[in-house]
Amino acid sequence: MEIKYELKDKSQRRTEPLKPNEPLPFGVLRTDHMFIMDYEDGQWKNARIVPYGDIPIAPGATTLHYGQAIFEGVKAFQHDDGEIYTFRLDKNAQRMNRSADILCIPNIPEEIQIEAVHALIDIDRLWFPHQEGASLYIRPFIFATQDSLGVHPSSSYKFMVILSPSGPYYPAGFTKPIKLLITEKFHRAAPGGTGSSKAAGNYAASLKAGEFAKEFGASQVLYLDTTNIYIEEAGAMNHFHITREGDVVIPEFVDSVLRSITSESIIELADTLNINVTQKRVKIKEFIEAVKNKNITEAGGLGTAAVISPVGEYVFEDATSITVGNGEVGEVTKKIYEYYTGIQTGKVEAPKGWLQKVERRK
Ligand SMILES: Cc1ncc(COP(=O)(O)O)c(C=O)c1O
Repeated sequence: MEIKYELKDKSQRRTEPLKPNEPLPFGVLRTDHMFIMDYEDGQWKNARIVPYGDIPIAPGATTLHYGQAIFEGVKAFQHDDGEIYTFRLDKNAQRMNRSADILCIPNIPEEIQIEAVHALIDIDRLWFPHQEGASLYIRPFIFATQDSLGVHPSSSYKFMVILSPSGPYYPAGFTKPIKLLITEKFHRAAPGGTGSSKAAGNYAASLKAGEFAKEFGASQVLYLDTTNIYIEEAGAMNHFHITREGDVVIPEFVDSVLRSITSESIIELADTLNINVTQKRVKIKEFIEAVKNKNITEAGGLGTAAVISPVGEYVFEDATSITVGNGEVGEVTKKIYEYYTGIQTGKVEAPKGWLQKVERRK
């Protein structure tokens, strides 16, 4: 792929690395540039890196009315050798195409998605954050641009990548478990729907549930399937629990659950970590009983942003609650978190292909 560079004037660009003490909330800061590519006349073309800024969009664009839009979330890490490495970007590129299929959006070859991200990071490498535990959050996304009010797949799209230097997800350390609300009022996704994609609309549809959870002092909802029998997801994370014997259980990837790359990675690491990781349908009633009688001792959410969000307590709408284990971060959770973040930051040997170095080209 040939990329055209229309870069900011040098005097307006970052000229030295971010300072370790610059405040960096998660996902807020942007870098100098962004990547854009257009889909027109049946093909992806016109790949370019341009200054970060607003983009014109037709008021009748399909994405604004019918939400034909998808995205990914990926991280890059700087290692002690000073180089920047993307983490499992190939898996995100594959999932972008799976989401594209579900939303009738034309696929983009994985290698083109990877090249777009690496070229952009290379240009903006001085934006890499240097605080302990910080990372570069990468947001690739595709949206429909055809100016048409008919409900049908758009004939034109944009693929874009923006970057967000982000501070550590746990600035105070990996110590405080979250609360989840168990409710039958909200569902994230239905069988045959878009739950296994990263469709923008899935997240719009989750906002009300998130606000509802906050009324109970919980940070998110534990989503059940539409029959209210099985556990599906922990807000915008996969759910997991750990039994008294130390076995990790992740709900099956049915078509209303997003196939989390963090979950898949932990499943792949099971032997190395010497833990048993299985996937199965998990009945909420049995889960609650097992938490109460301490047959389940740890639980939480899995996802790129936090890696692991331990859950210390599940609350119900009548304000009663159950505590997981002793309510603190459990040992197996800690072991997984430390090993996983060790791989990402280059402190622990990564399985082959998990980290890809961002080559210097400009
Ligand atoms: C609904 C949902 N489930 C799970 C995940 C975790 O997926 P991953 O580990 O690939 O970030 C995410 C975040 O991407 C998500 O939005």
